[in-house]
Amino acid sequence: MTEIYDFSSFPILRTERLTLRQLTSQDAEALLAIFDPEEARRFSTRPPLETREAAIKMINWFNDLTHHRQAIQWGITLHENERVLIGTCGWYSWAQSDRRVDIGYHIVPSQWGQGYATEATRAMLRWCFENLDLHRIQADCTAGHDASERVLLKCGFTVEGVWRESCWEHERFVDIKQFGLLRREFDFT
Ligand SMILES: CC(C)(COP(=O)(O)OP(=O)(O)OC[C@H]1O[C@@H](n2cnc3c(N)ncnc32)[C@H](O)[C@@H]1OP(=O)(O)O)[C@@H](O)C(=O)NCCC(=O)NCCS
Repeated sequence: MTEIYDFSSFPILRTERLTLRQLTSQDAEALLAIFDPEEARRFSTRPPLETREAAIKMINWFNDLTHHRQAIQWGITLHENERVLIGTCGWYSWAQSDRRVDIGYHIVPSQWGQGYATEATRAMLRWCFENLDLHRIQADCTAGHDASERVLLKCGFTVEGVWRESCWEHERFVDIKQFGLLRREFDFT
């Protein structure tokens, strides 16, 4: 059995282009740029994130979840400037006896289409499998959210089904597509 992460320090992850680090209150403005724009909320039921105070509250909430061993939300930065956030990604809903978590990711719109979400998600998936002794990782997105679906497929996920008209999103019911990745299917190389 894999030794499970003891949460004594925040895990910093490095990939070819990215550093994934802990969020701090100094990231509040960047978080607004990631979560608030209309295009970033097109496939989301989340209300707008409009104020610095709300962003700080969100950062504290993320870090609190980590303190209570329930989730980790990383801030995604480029190596050349680890102070400036270009996105976030994280895992949550840790079902320890089933050895399973859910994941999510966000990139600031100005940086879309450069492979950053895929690169960060791959690093996070690897960390999760290696440090939480997981058997399975799952994710979902609104049907038709092709960019998010591509990220999951590029990371090795399989489409497992659709919850029909499951969320009330922008004044209409939308289908939610379910994805799963088993440990034996993940490319650790
Ligand atoms: C989804 C999201 C994280 C993708 O971030 P990203 O850094 O642009 O993702 P990547 O560059 O790693 O991969 C995106 C892929 O989708 C493709 N893509 C982008 N927009 C697309 C569209 N409208 N239709 C089809 N494919 C699309 C890209 O071409 C790329 O695939 P490719 O490498 O095969 O060419 C980003 O759009 C985002 O933050 N959206 C808002 C938050 C969100 O919806 N998060 C997911 C919640 S489920």
